[in-house]
Amino acid sequence: MKGCLLSRGFYIETMGCQMNAHDSDFMAQSLIDSGFVPVSSPEQADVILVNTCVVRAKPEQKAYSFLGRASGIKAENPLKFLGIIGCLAQMKGADLLKRFPQLDLIMGPRELSRFPEIVKTIDRPSVKIVATHLDPAPPCHIPGHGCLRKKVTGYVSIMEGCNNFCSYCIVPYVRGRETSRSPKEIMAEAVHLLSHGVKEITLLGQNVNSYLWKGRGGRQRRNFPDLLSELSTLDGLLRLRFVTSHPKDLSDELISCFGGIHNLCPHIHLPFQAGSNRILKLMRRGYTREDYMTLIQKLRAVKPDIAITSDVMVGFPGESDQDFEDTLGLIRYVRFDSLFSFTYSDRRGTAAEQMGDKIDDLTKAARLNTLQNVQKGITLEKNKELEGKPAVILVEGGSKKGHQLSGRTDTYKIVNFIANDRLIGSLVNVKIKRSFLNSLWGEWISSVLPNSQDLRDFGVM
Ligand code: SAH
Ligand code: SF4
Ligand code: F3S
Repeated sequence: MKGCLLSRGFYIETMGCQMNAHDSDFMAQSLIDSGFVPVSSPEQADVILVNTCVVRAKPEQKAYSFLGRASGIKAENPLKFLGIIGCLAQMKGADLLKRFPQLDLIMGPRELSRFPEIVKTIDRPSVKIVATHLDPAPPCHIPGHGCLRKKVTGYVSIMEGCNNFCSYCIVPYVRGRETSRSPKEIMAEAVHLLSHGVKEITLLGQNVNSYLWKGRGGRQRRNFPDLLSELSTLDGLLRLRFVTSHPKDLSDELISCFGGIHNLCPHIHLPFQAGSNRILKLMRRGYTREDYMTLIQKLRAVKPDIAITSDVMVGFPGESDQDFEDTLGLIRYVRFDSLFSFTYSDRRGTAAEQMGDKIDDLTKAARLNTLQNVQKGITLEKNKELEGKPAVILVEGGSKKGHQLSGRTDTYKIVNFIANDRLIGSLVNVKIKRSFLNSLWGEWISSVLPNSQDLRDFGVM
């Protein structure tokens, strides 16, 4: 109790992608290891951190408005520690101090391995720290003792940065060049997670399928399929996933992994961005719509029920009505399980920023609306097809309402159902009863790996 009263609180606001979220988990773990406790608002916290994203204008604005609010909180209590982490910190660096002089820390994503050391200096916030080197060293996110939250699913970052320089994208400028982590480090982190109860691991990177480890003198060469095979043999790993893949690097060898690796989930997130060859070329994506269609055919030949999700953008400079129709055509051809869709946003310093023939906001918004309605129809139809069918769910957690549990199919669809919360962390059979846009409702049938306690709980024994 005494410890609780003396503990200092931290609050992390996370605004970016899964890699950003993973970086926040790493920082939270470092703070917990140093005796801080998580609190639920920046007002209650002694340490306030905002982990930022600049991929579009919207998250960048959100970061500025949060920094304004947090600066106000710190102005009332100067002993608080205020830090900005992530891609906006990398993009603006020390310039941020002009607008937000209350900041104590500005740290880019490639400097994250310094964070545990920085935590030790938090008691002396008069020293401002600016850490924004785009060091090529890979991330080193091996958590210390104990897991942050008792989670069923865990993430392992296998690479950092991106070399692709798609013409619209800021990521290579703020995350630096592509660097793969050693298989040894990746395996060690996976084993650590599994030993703390994690059952499903998602490998993270901006472009995981270009993962390449050469080792000293190229003697320990491993590509992404090699890494998947190695990880899949780990004891206790029920499910293996990865995100994100780039179509231009999706090899036949990787496609065949979906047929050959027993615990690799039948789901791929494969951003296509646009369905018009003219726009794909301007985007510098390195594939055509025909190449993309061929990849989909190959994936479905190996795994007919594989779930395919994607990212797409409307309103890229010069996008005509016909280009947009081509994008809709590709969506109708593939019938994605779900889609993340965005309107193009100018990013400073990118090649697309310099392009003429920008599309006005109203046209962009109308195209996005049309596209989302087309996809909504497809998602609803695909989910409806699952009604009455059995599914295997990895139970991830419970909801506060009654005994409702929640988990995902191997195809990454959320299923809610009623069952005993002792099933959290195990695989169960359910029958899908109803389908919605973003989730399914199921009925518990049995545990896939039954243990006698579960069977007693459900009156089977
Ligand atoms: N590395 C991944 C995703 C990176 S960012 C990939 O290559 O697919 C996530 C998504 O944000 C992208 O897939 C793209 O659809 C979107 N995006 C990136 N830059 C954008 C911009 N300038 N405007 C609008 N959307 C953008
Ligand atoms: Fe951005 Fe393209 Fe790299 Fe993805 S592959 S992070 S869209 S530059
Ligand atoms: Fe955003 Fe940086 Fe991720 S810009 S999408 S948080 S890599």
